[in-house]
Amino acid sequence: MLQFGLIGLGHHGKNAVAPAFFHDEAPAELRAVCDLRADALEAFERPVKGKHLDYREMLQDDELDAVYVAAGMDLHYGIVMDCLRAGKHVIVEKPMAATLDQCKEMVATADAVGLVLAVNFETRYSEQNAVLRRWLTGGHLGRVEALHFANMWDGHKRFGPIKERRARLMALAGALDCGIHKLDQARFLVGGTWGYVDALGAWLDEEEFEPPPHIAILGQLDNGISVSLNASLAWAANIKPRPMVNTLEIAGVEGVALCRSTPDFKRMSMELHSNTLCEQVDIDCTGHTNDIVLTLAEFAGVVAHGRTPGTLMASGEDGYWAQFATEAANASARRHREDVR
Ligand SMILES: NC(=O)c1ccc[n+]([C@@H]2O[C@H](COP(=O)([O-])OP(=O)(O)OC[C@H]3O[C@@H](n4cnc5c(N)ncnc54)[C@H](O)[C@@H]3O)[C@@H](O)[C@H]2O)c1
Repeated sequence: MLQFGLIGLGHHGKNAVAPAFFHDEAPAELRAVCDLRADALEAFERPVKGKHLDYREMLQDDELDAVYVAAGMDLHYGIVMDCLRAGKHVIVEKPMAATLDQCKEMVATADAVGLVLAVNFETRYSEQNAVLRRWLTGGHLGRVEALHFANMWDGHKRFGPIKERRARLMALAGALDCGIHKLDQARFLVGGTWGYVDALGAWLDEEEFEPPPHIAILGQLDNGISVSLNASLAWAANIKPRPMVNTLEIAGVEGVALCRSTPDFKRMSMELHSNTLCEQVDIDCTGHTNDIVLTLAEFAGVVAHGRTPGTLMASGEDGYWAQFATEAANASARRHREDVR
């Protein structure tokens, strides 16, 4: 079994990533954990062989095969490069890094040393994507020309116990800290790379953040398919109710697909309407940890045998393209804001 180290025991590392290693069907072992914060290490009660304040010390362990990096995107580049130089395979959380040049260098370094670099777009393993891929590869939508996403929620609110963590992530990527999953999902479902990306932002009283907390993106992939995304981490962020929105509509010349989550994000209703098949599917949205278990399983397979045409796991290049669209959209939204001032 692959032996992993985990860097970053913050909200996501502790609550979503670490439990995946202790799942009944965990395909990898968590050997060591690392965080700069001694209190986070002390509070980590699951059994591991090592706890480290300095990840460089953890990387000296020859038994460690791979590292899962779950620090903030501004820290990913330095940490990932050190892991690769230490000969460890890496899964890095989205967003992959702070700049496109950093993403490129991470990909080139992993390739040069023959190590696997994956980016955790775990929603690739969701049941929603399995159903959509079945409809798409079954030809029921015909030629697809447009995808319309909405992913609007509060990022765990502007008040309450983890508002500082929300602010940390928002300062780096704005609404797209989470919306980036949809930018990856578009390419995952219909292929291509980003050709054109434009966006308008709304700051909703959170002007302190440079990237918009609420954004409307219009983009096009180089295969001609247009993509729109309304993404928000500021939606209902000031109020107690949580009316969250997660929808996707796909328009093909021979069929359409509609997906809509319940406002608590726990269930999703999916519909296909076409001449060859009409189907309605209701699914459970299983959440981070189950999808990360699947990520770990596929990662172990790729480390052992390499990628195959059927590999779902996001590569470094996929991380780059998601970052490309994120940066282009946030820059465009900031530019348009200046235009009207
Ligand atoms: N895949 C998903 O759906 C998903 C969901 C939430 C967060 N994330 C991503 O996970 C990452 C972490 O998010 P979070 O919410 O846990 O943030 P967080 O700020 O709560 O946690 C980050 C942790 O990393 C630690 N850290 C920072 N630098 C370190 C270093 N050099 N060595 C060791 N530890 C270090 C911090 O002390 C902190 O505990 C972000 O990239 C975020 O976008 C992904």
